[in-house]
Amino acid sequence: MKVLVTAASRHGSTREIADAIAEELRRSTIDTECHDLGEITGIEGYDAVVFGSAIYMGNWLPEARSFAEEHRDEFSKVPVWVFSSGPIGAQNPQPQNNPNVLATTFGDVEVRDHRVFVGKIDPDELGLAERVVVKMVKAPEGDFRDWDDIRGWAKQIAAELHSIEQTV
Ligand SMILES: Cc1cc2nc3c(=O)[nH]c(=O)nc-3n(C[C@H](O)[C@H](O)[C@H](O)COP(=O)(O)O)c2cc1C
Repeated sequence: MKVLVTAASRHGSTREIADAIAEELRRSTIDTECHDLGEITGIEGYDAVVFGSAIYMGNWLPEARSFAEEHRDEFSKVPVWVFSSGPIGAQNPQPQNNPNVLATTFGDVEVRDHRVFVGKIDPDELGLAERVVVKMVKAPEGDFRDWDDIRGWAKQIAAELHSIEQTV
């Protein structure tokens, strides 16, 4: 079984979440590749996919939305897990977005689970317009990623993948 972990990331923090998930799957002896969404043209050749995107202005990055839409047929043939990373707009750094709404671009594809992970805002990495938005909404600055939460989720995926392997 070969698994793809892929993510759309603007400043790299969502990609690092994808890397941690991939590392955890490999630790569970699952053959796993991890790629930026921009590096791949499709998901053919993979038996399962973990797909992620950073959230900007209430939605996934455009490349994540278009990839999910364009490859629905391929996604509907394999087990799919989805994650999103935020947040912004609150003093309390919790994600503001409803996972079900974010994943609507997958249409009828059966998503096994969708998790929203708290992300990272480093003002030094942001462009001018982004800094203005962050200031306007008084978004909390810092790295709020919860690696135990992320790796715990990856372990659940690994367990499910092992049980899928046993039934085929
Ligand atoms: C300009 C801007 C807009 C953002 N909008 C949202 C948002 O609407 N909802 C949310 O949960 N997080 C939002 N975020 C937080 C990002 O999703 C978070 O910083 C994430 O970790 C960035 O991932 P990346 O480093 O992979 O690009 C925003 C961040 C910036 C800088």
